[in-house]
Amino acid sequence: MKFFVDTAEVDQIAELNDLGMVDGVTTNPSLIMKSGRDIIEVTKEIAGMVDGPVSAEVVALEADAMIEEGRKLAKIAENIAVKVPLTWAGLKACKVLSGEGNMVNVTLCFSANQALLAAKAGATFISPFIGRLDDINLDGMELISDIRQVYDNYGFETQILAASIRTVNHAYQAAMIGSDVMTAPPGVIKKMAEHPLTDAGLDAFMKDWAKTGQKIL
Ligand code: G3P
Repeated sequence: MKFFVDTAEVDQIAELNDLGMVDGVTTNPSLIMKSGRDIIEVTKEIAGMVDGPVSAEVVALEADAMIEEGRKLAKIAENIAVKVPLTWAGLKACKVLSGEGNMVNVTLCFSANQALLAAKAGATFISPFIGRLDDINLDGMELISDIRQVYDNYGFETQILAASIRTVNHAYQAAMIGSDVMTAPPGVIKKMAEHPLTDAGLDAFMKDWAKTGQKIL
């Protein structure tokens, strides 16, 4: 499973990128707002840091304006994936922008039917939002599983990009289902390294090592 980092904070991207943990980055208007940076400037900086796709989201609501914004965002760098919302206008923009050779990430997906439409419109990535479905007592992971089945039934090449990942369990389940990509906040990716038995085991090793009186360096 590819790891995208869901943030516009360049320092946090850099730390994970140095470890080889970053296959791409996703941003959205809320993340740009949190960064306090100019969208063009910060997207350019991020796209220069990582080799993989960097999603930058349009904010227009009409298809023609989305297409114009998408073309502008795509010019920032070769690895930009233009992000459009899963509305009828967004699907029209997806069809045009993908037809022009751009990567397109269709976001705010909450049903398998929406995912099916995005694939037919030529989406490179579909972004189902797991956490936001869990927030309203639905099962976000069931959606990932349903989209996996629909795409596999018909051989769609659109990549499932599990988004709105909030917990390490979301990451684990998305990987078990066979999501192509997950995008998660840096904190969730770092937390995946943690296990209480690792901490307990290390503590025991350190205590025994101290008893040997030895040093390696
Ligand atoms: O990748 C989408 C993500 O940014 C939304 O996450 O936690 O705001 O639902 P969240």
